[in-house]
Amino acid sequence: MPVLKVPKREAEPVKRKLKKLNLYDGKRRPGIEGDFVLLPIFEDETVYSLGYEVLDIELPLRPERQIYKNLESVLAERLTPEELKHLRRYDVIGDIAVIQIPPELEHRVDDIVWGLRKVHPFLKVVAKKGFHEGAFRIRDYSIIWGEKRLETVHKENGVEIKVDLSKAFFNPRMKGERYRLAQLVRDGERILIPFAGVLPYALVIARYRKVKITAVELNREAYELGLENIELNRKRLKGEIEFIHGDAFEVLPELPTYDRVISPTPRGVDALALTLSKAERWLHYYDFVHEAEIEDFRRRIIEECSRQGKDCEVRVKKVSDFKPHVFKVCADVRIKG
Ligand SMILES: C[S@@+](CC[C@H](N)C(=O)[O-])C[C@H]1O[C@@H](n2cnc3c(N)ncnc32)[C@H](O)[C@@H]1O
Repeated sequence: MPVLKVPKREAEPVKRKLKKLNLYDGKRRPGIEGDFVLLPIFEDETVYSLGYEVLDIELPLRPERQIYKNLESVLAERLTPEELKHLRRYDVIGDIAVIQIPPELEHRVDDIVWGLRKVHPFLKVVAKKGFHEGAFRIRDYSIIWGEKRLETVHKENGVEIKVDLSKAFFNPRMKGERYRLAQLVRDGERILIPFAGVLPYALVIARYRKVKITAVELNREAYELGLENIELNRKRLKGEIEFIHGDAFEVLPELPTYDRVISPTPRGVDALALTLSKAERWLHYYDFVHEAEIEDFRRRIIEECSRQGKDCEVRVKKVSDFKPHVFKVCADVRIKG
């Protein structure tokens, strides 16, 4: 597979340029060769005109996709190539695997369970994933193998997170995003996190930074799991977390303003004006946006900033794909002055 051999000090800008040109192959990990970085790229004529050496080197797949690949290769023993095309991505949360089973593979459930257990021998539960429902965004799961529970402890970014998938929202795929935010935060900040769930963002940030976090959650069961999670991680946390049970739309107006507000907004809820009004320097606002409407979304935020008398710089980042052409995005809003 092609790689671009770039001097280490130029690697980041070249990587950004490759991404812009849709030439960067994010499925593979970059490699190192002495003072050079080997950037994974797609086969395309333009890569030869960038002024760097193009080599043919096998770089490893990123772990998540590697795991997926393993399931695919394990199942190749039992499923037809046509059936394999319908195989969806899955998640491992603690000792529970969750997978979506499309109608085309319903008759292959036993084989899929067999494959998952072969790839992850530690699994105790395999559950079939349904859709997120209601204001608390709880997914509908059915257990297709193993112990009859959806409670487990998931390890991520150096913290342990107790979750119960039947009672509270949790998305392991936001691991990288939580780490990104933890890196942006500085010691000493006061941070507000409405829609906090079982506290994954708060725990990861407090694990790395000496901060004061106030988190708010409406779902009583998520709130109680969050309190348990603070205790579970007590010795690891540099920062402090205050957790409030209540409706963000009632609680936030009573709270002061904060250096940074992080809003993992539930789908379909508009909390932009509310969360922005509580932010002094930064707002990280999550939403689900069609790719054709990202610029409108950015403009809407700028307008809300001017309505509130704030001079803002807004960058919108795609965080994950949600459905065709619709992305979960994070608007990083910097409030100047
Ligand atoms: C998308 S989930 C994010 C949860 C958590 N931050 C995470 O990333 O795992 C949104 C959360 O907001 C909570 N929620 C919904 N409406 C709320 C409200 N009005 N006030 C406070 N929390 C609310 C839901 O129960 C859910 O836990």
